[in-house]
Order: sequence, then structure tokens, then C-alpha cells
Amino acid sequence: MFSSSLLRNVIPVSSEWVFSCVKCRSRQYCQKQFKKLTIRDALSSKALGSNVRIQGWVRSVRSQKEHLFLHVNDGSSLQALQVVASNDLNDSDLTFGSAIDVTGCLEKSPSKKQNVELHAKQIKVTGKCDPIKFPFKIKERHPMEYIRQYPHLRCRTNTFSALLRIRSEATSAIQSYFKDNGFIQIHTPVITSNDCEGAGELFQLEPAGSGKTQDERSQHFFSVPTYLTVSGQLHLEVMSGAFPAVYTFGPTFRAENSQSRRHLAEFYMVEAEISFTESLEDVMAVMENLFKASTEHVLTHCAEDVELFHKFVASGHRGQVDVMLSRKFNVISYTEAIDILNRSSQTFTFPTEWGCDLQTEHEKYLVKHCGNIPVFVTDYPYDLKPFYARDNQDHPRHTAAAVDLLVPGVGELCGGSLREERLDLLQNRLAQAGLEEEYEWYLQLRRFGSVPHGGFGMGFERYLQCILGVDNIKDVIPFARFSHSCLL
Ligand code: 4AD
Ligand code: MG
Repeated sequence: MFSSSLLRNVIPVSSEWVFSCVKCRSRQYCQKQFKKLTIRDALSSKALGSNVRIQGWVRSVRSQKEHLFLHVNDGSSLQALQVVASNDLNDSDLTFGSAIDVTGCLEKSPSKKQNVELHAKQIKVTGKCDPIKFPFKIKERHPMEYIRQYPHLRCRTNTFSALLRIRSEATSAIQSYFKDNGFIQIHTPVITSNDCEGAGELFQLEPAGSGKTQDERSQHFFSVPTYLTVSGQLHLEVMSGAFPAVYTFGPTFRAENSQSRRHLAEFYMVEAEISFTESLEDVMAVMENLFKASTEHVLTHCAEDVELFHKFVASGHRGQVDVMLSRKFNVISYTEAIDILNRSSQTFTFPTEWGCDLQTEHEKYLVKHCGNIPVFVTDYPYDLKPFYARDNQDHPRHTAAAVDLLVPGVGELCGGSLREERLDLLQNRLAQAGLEEEYEWYLQLRRFGSVPHGGFGMGFERYLQCILGVDNIKDVIPFARFSHSCLL
């Protein structure tokens, strides 16, 4: 008897599927069963002479006197599988972009370009594709700006398919890093009543159809106004009252009216919170180790896909990534950063006085000044940071124990801080902002077994931009949401 998992890989073949091998004409292939393989598995298969079935999309078609050559890709790997068939199997529907189902015999390929090829016995066109109307053209490397116009089709290009495999592997790498280092994963909510960052970039949530009458408008579905989360931090802080280290990795929303190449309305954020820490260095060490471990993992496990980016999208970027991995990240204080900017001969659009927020142009300059190595900027002016940032109680310049990690090409990749664990200081700050009542639950975390703690958030799309050298954030997320964009 077959186990159920084996049965899933085996398809019954009716008599009309029985063909002889195109090359050797032998009928030894006329077996009743074909093993279904992904292209990735077929390419690495050692089972030469075995009958297999593959399904995918045609990347190239070449018809010669006797033989037909196809390249078929199914998204499981960057490489396509060469299918060799008798010209009898040619069909006008076998075009670039069409979906096909092929059964045949896996053979050693005489070509140096691949180890194996599939000698087709039958080719079935599952889905036709008009190559004239299809927006992508055979063997053309379309620019990212072009393929971005087709969010529903771009996963069929080599570049975006590679990006999605890298994104998937990077997600696993990040999860592994936290698992290996004793962090507990917490699923923080998407629906929340708090504006963690206090920047007012919130998407408010109401049930569809509500708000038609005055009466309905005054009724919220929840008891309070509700938003899509801008950060899972405050919910992670709840958990840092019971665990040594926690993290979350999920969608985050910001109603920023920004058309920039590093902002989205919906993005993924990796956030970590460490209990019983009194030092920003502990938080910075997690940021640096997470960046380096995840990147090493991606470079090892997605070598071909990453190479595509480093060759065709951001040529020479690999060298930059290797430098980032081999060098210790720099650390400067905000005050030093302002001094560096003021000493520079570059003219900046935005002011560089102590107390001003750092803008993209400043971040870029600072990274370059530090030799294009990521740089932590610490101890920002207290007034620039949200209520939760720990007061350094330093004078005359008043700073908070907050840190941003700036990286080449992207600017701010991570933002973090020690959290204000002292009840009286937190209470004062919330009272000044008129938020004491709203954040009573947060104050209770400091009343009952408060511990010094700190954490950070890393923008996942910015991380991918940084390691792959992708200029625009819209090109590293499956479906980009940004202001004024059309949504699928
Ligand atoms: O610096 P931010 O706003 O920090 C927080 O939200 C903290 N509460 C995180 C924490 O301590 N747990 O955001 C963190 C990171 C930024 O450094 C940036 O990489 C990314 O999130 N980010 C965005 N990425 C894409 N589009 C946007 N609109 C982003 N806003 C922030
Ligand atoms: Mg920030």
C-alpha cells in the first residue's frame, strides 16, 4: 500500500498519455505512473531515466528541424528546466508565458548549461498566453519601474520571483535568529486603540457602512476609537513583564502621505523587546546580530537569487554587503552627528541645529562619513522621542536613551530605545501630554513588577532594500500599498 503522501506525488496516466521517447524511440517509458516534481527538484534529481511530470510557465520556445526546445519555470528556482520534445508535439499555443503540463523522461543533458533535461512524451497547454499582449517579452530584462506597473503579473518575471523567494527565506532567517536566541514570538494585534509613536499617522477603523447617521457615527464598534497598528511595541512591552525576551513580526500601517522610495502605508516590521536590560548596547547588539545572522543565512540559502540582484539590479552591491557583514557597526551620539553635519562642506536643505530631527539627507551623509558602514546614532533630544523613551536625565542637553540604525542606501533601518520603566517619570510625561488616563494600563506595567527593558523595530522592506541594493521600497513587497496607489 502507498502512504497518503506518496499517493499525492503520483498521478494515474490514462492510455492516451502513453508515448514513446522522442530521442531513443524506446517504449520503456510507457509506465503507468509519473512522479510530479517541482522544477527545483527535477534540476537536482539524480534519478535519470525516471518518468516525471512537471508543471510551469514557458520562458522560451525554440523549434529546430526535428526537435522542440522549451525552458519551463515554476517559481521553485531561478533556473528553468529544458524540455526537449519531438516537433510533432509543437502547438501554436505553446508560447512564451503559457502554462504547461509535461510528462516525460528525465535524462542527462548533453549541454553544459544544465545537468538534466526532460524528454517530453506529452505536453499539455493548461493556460494559453498571447505573447503580443502579455506585458513581458521573451528574454527581455524589464526595468523594475516597468514591472511595477503590473502588480498582478510581476511575480512571473525572474526578478520579482527571485525577490519573493529571498523574502520568504529572509522571513525564516529572522524567525530562526530569534528562536536560536531565546526570544518568544508574540502575535501582537493589528487592531489597536493606541498611537504608539504619537505621530498621528493612523488609519482609523470602522465597520463598513457605519457613520451614515449622526447616531451611528457616535457608536464605535469597539468601545473606543480604533486604528490599524503603527507598532506592536506597547503590546510587546506587556509581555516583557513576563518573559526574558519577546519579538513580533507582522504588518504595520502608517497613514503617511509619502511618495518616497522608502515609505509604504503597509509594511512589515520586526520588533524585539528585551527585559532586565539597562543598556542601549544590549539593544544595539541584538540589532547588529540580527542583521548579520539573517543576511548570512540569505546569502547562503538564496545564492543564485541574490546574485541576480547584485548583477542586474544593483551591480557591485555584493561588495558593499560583504563590508557590512565583516565590519563592526559604528556608534555615534546624536550630538556628535550634529557636529559632523555642521562641520561638513555640504549644504543641506533641512536645518542641522541641535534639537532638529535627522532627515534622509543627513542620514545619508552620516553613513558615508562613517565609511559606508551601518551606524548607530544614540541619545536623541528628549523632546524628539515618544513618551515611552527613557529619560537620560542629562543636563544642560536633555536626551533620551533612543537609538536609530542608519544603513547605506536606505538611511534609517531600525529605531529603538530603552523604555521609561520609572513610574513617576512616565506618569509625569503622560500627564503633560494629557494621556495619563488613556495609558493607565501601561502605567500599571510600571506599578506591578516593573523591570528595566528596551527594544527596537526594523523595517523588513528596508532591510531587503539594504541587502539587495533595491532603490524603491515598492519593489520588495508582494503588493505595495502607498498613498494614492491603486489596490488589487
Ligand atoms: O522608527 P519607528 O517608527 O519605530 C517604532 O515604531 C518603534 N515603536 C519600534 C520599536 O521600538 N518596537 O519604526 C521602526 C522602523 C523604521 O526604522 C523603518 O525601518 C520602518 O520601521 N518604517 C517604515 N518602513 C516602511 N514604510 C514606512 N512608512 C515606515 N515607517 C517606519
Ligand atoms: Mg524612527
